[in-house]
Amino acid sequence: MNDLLSRATRFVVAAVEQARALHRSPLAPDVARLHRLFTSERAERRPDYQRDPALRRAYLGFFLPHNAVKIALLLERSRREGLLAVGDAPAILDVGAGPLTGIFGAWIAFGRLGRCVAVDAAAATMEAALPLLALVQHDGVERRTANVAVSPAARWLGDTRPDLVILANVLNELRDPRRGADTRERLLFELLAAVPPNGRVLVVEPATRVHGRALMLLRDRLVDGRRASVLSPCRGAPACPLLRRRGDWCHGELAWQPPREFGELARAAGIDKATLKESHLVLSPRSTPPPHAGARLVGGLMRDAAGVERRYGCGADGLLTLVGTPALPSAVAAAERGELLHPLPASARIEVTPSPAPGAPTARRGAGRPGRRGRAAGGPRPR
Ligand SMILES: C[S@@+](CC[C@H](N)C(=O)[O-])C[C@H]1O[C@@H](n2cnc3c(N)ncnc32)[C@H](O)[C@@H]1O
Repeated sequence: MNDLLSRATRFVVAAVEQARALHRSPLAPDVARLHRLFTSERAERRPDYQRDPALRRAYLGFFLPHNAVKIALLLERSRREGLLAVGDAPAILDVGAGPLTGIFGAWIAFGRLGRCVAVDAAAATMEAALPLLALVQHDGVERRTANVAVSPAARWLGDTRPDLVILANVLNELRDPRRGADTRERLLFELLAAVPPNGRVLVVEPATRVHGRALMLLRDRLVDGRRASVLSPCRGAPACPLLRRRGDWCHGELAWQPPREFGELARAAGIDKATLKESHLVLSPRSTPPPHAGARLVGGLMRDAAGVERRYGCGADGLLTLVGTPALPSAVAAAERGELLHPLPASARIEVTPSPAPGAPTARRGAGRPGRRGRAAGGPRPR
C-alpha cells in the first residue's frame, strides 16, 4: 500500500505541474468551470467538451489525477478482496480513456503494466497525457479513436486481449444516464467477451444518485442475463435492494490524503475532493460468481435516541442491518462506506431485510421518510 501511495503522490504532482505548464493562465477557474459542467450545469455540457483546450487542460490537471487515484484504490480494494486475478504486469484496455486515466490508475495500483490500449472518441484528450507516460516508464500506449456507443467493439479492439478493461466515468456519457441501458449493456458484453476467463472489467461512475442508480440498474440486467457475473459491490441479491426507494443509491468512499499541490488547487477551485466517492462494478466473464462473503457497508453510521448504533450492509441475502449492543465494534463504526466486512462482527446483531424480487415496484421518493438523522447522504434510509 505504501508503494501505491507513493506512486499516487508522484503522479498527482506531475499531472498538476504538466497542466500548469501548458498555459500561463491560472488553472483553478477552469477546473471550477469544468466541475460545474459535471455537476450543477451538467445540462450545459457539450458532448465534445474535451475538444476545448481550456477544459482539456483543467481535466488533465485535476480530474485525471483525482480519477486515477480513485481507480487505483478501487483496484487495490478489489485485490485485497481476492476479486482480481491479474498478474504483475497486466494488459490494460482503457475505454473512454480521456487522458489515459484508467492506464495511469492501473500503474498506480500495480506499478508495472503490460500492453496498454486506450480508446476514446477524442484523440486530443488522449494525446494531452502523453508527456506523463515518461513517469510510468511505459513506452507505448496504443491509441484508437472510436465512438464506442455506435461502433461495435470488434472494429476497434483488433487483437487486444486485455487482463483488465477499465471504463471510468464514460458509461454516463453514452447517452442520458437514465437511458441508453441497451447501449451500455451491449458494450459491456462485447468487452467481457474480449477478456480471458480470469480477466476483469472495472466500471467506475460518479457517486451521484442518478449515476449510481443507472449503474445498479445495469448491474441487475447483467445479473439477470447470466452471461457474465458481477463480483463487486455485491453478488448475492438478484435485484439491487437500493433501487427499491428512489432516494437510495449504492456508492462507496475511499479516504485519500492528497498532496499539497492538489489540495491547494482543489481549494482554489472551491471543490471538496478529500474523499474519493465512487459507484462501481467489477465484472467477470464467467457466468457463475463465487458466493458473496461478509457484507459491504452501504450506509453511514446511525445512532438512535437510546444510543444504539446501526449500519447498513449488503450481503449474500441482500440488504442487512448491523445492530450494536448498543455500540458497534469501533472497526465497524469507523470503516469506510464501501468497505467489505468479512467476517461479520460476532458482537453485532444482524437483521436481514428481504430482497426485492427483480423488477419489484420502486417506492415513491420520500414515502414514509423518517428523516435524515444519522444517515449519510445516499445510503438507504432508516426503516
Ligand atoms: C469524463 S471523461 C472520463 C475520462 C477518463 N476515463 C476518466 O475517468 O478520467 C469521459 C471520456 O469519455 C469519452 N467519450 C464519451 N463518449 C464517448 C463515446 N461514445 N465513444 C468513445 N469515447 C467517448 C470522452 O471523450 C471523454 O474523454
